[in-house]
Amino acid sequence: MKKLVVVFFVLISLFASAQKFQNLAMTPPMGWNSWNKFACNVSEKLLKETADAMATNGLKDAGYEYIVIDDCWQISRDSMGFIVADPVRFPSGIKALADYIHSKGLKFGIYSCAGTKTCAGRPGGRGHEFQDAYMYAKWGVDYLKYDWCSADGQTQKESYTLMSQMLKEAGRPIVFSLCEWGGSKPWEWAGEVGHLWRTTGDIGDCFDCFLDQGSWKSNGVMKILDLQKDMRQYAGPGHWNDPDMLEVGNGGMNENENRAHFSMWCMIAAPLIAGNDLRNMSAKTLAILTNPDVISVNQDALGIQGLKYASKEGLETWMKPLSNGDWAVCFLNRSEEAKNIDFDWAKNVVNDDFSKRKLDATAETFKIKDVWSKKDLGTTKKALNASVPSHDVLMMRLSLVK
Ligand code: GLA
Repeated sequence: MKKLVVVFFVLISLFASAQKFQNLAMTPPMGWNSWNKFACNVSEKLLKETADAMATNGLKDAGYEYIVIDDCWQISRDSMGFIVADPVRFPSGIKALADYIHSKGLKFGIYSCAGTKTCAGRPGGRGHEFQDAYMYAKWGVDYLKYDWCSADGQTQKESYTLMSQMLKEAGRPIVFSLCEWGGSKPWEWAGEVGHLWRTTGDIGDCFDCFLDQGSWKSNGVMKILDLQKDMRQYAGPGHWNDPDMLEVGNGGMNENENRAHFSMWCMIAAPLIAGNDLRNMSAKTLAILTNPDVISVNQDALGIQGLKYASKEGLETWMKPLSNGDWAVCFLNRSEEAKNIDFDWAKNVVNDDFSKRKLDATAETFKIKDVWSKKDLGTTKKALNASVPSHDVLMMRLSLVK
């Protein structure tokens, strides 16, 4: 009898700990990560100032919550194998930093790697999985990005499953972000292992180019978008395709391009992890990152990744089914000149096989709002006539008239 009771309680606690992980990231995670702007130049001072900025400049109110420190916070392992933070850059230690971030009502994320070394050559997690998960839980980590360098002889599914189990054993709910760049098609197997997985190599700060990084190339925003094909059925509440962190405000793109980048990340239900200097950004950058109507498309509770409906001469039409019968529609102009749009809703009935949703303006009417200009664009009873500047979008919310 006693044994039965023990088995019962073990099962209940396993179930409770699995539940803790299942209810995380029900909408795409929102936050900030140090890598795109600061690379290895990270410190306790930068992280604290970034948390201060996020808490006061409108980002927190807009829904951003995770402050994630990427590579280079760690320097060695101690004689027992525990990970050691760089004492010069993080003199107060990681626990104090996590406490500070929590005191601002924000959450704290950290970075490591499934291989023996991180991509910047710092100690990786291999062979120390439980020890690291235990430390993260003890420090109060809420989010772990786990990379894939120096992983010779390892397989992604095995290594990430191991770390996922160790995080669960350690018992603190931690959003688990897989970063193996799409090599093993994690969208096919990682739904139960993590909450988001990178789908491509690293993003680069340009609209439609490849940036030379020496032995490899990073992908401009449009290049990344093109690589998101055929995977929307794998995204949903608690498990997201991750096309990499935002480059909005990092200087490589103009205002139109930043707006197009942000809009498309919202249309494809991507995690919104800002990658710029939050302490020092223009009003235009802040306005893009915090637009509530655009963010609500990204954070819609249904969690359906948008679909590319049409593409002609550099003008793409994207659609995203939303809650309450609404839709988001985005015209993306990738070309070098302005494009005119003449779009008859009645002649464009959208049948989305994946979500089983239908946008049929002959059967239902929708009110149209331009989510950037905030203008009322009438209803779907009339064809839409508009112009979209080069490298920009016309993004709209269609609200079902009931
Ligand atoms: C890889 C990842 C990046 C970043 C760096 C850190 O390139 O894809 O996002 O984390 O490693 O070294």
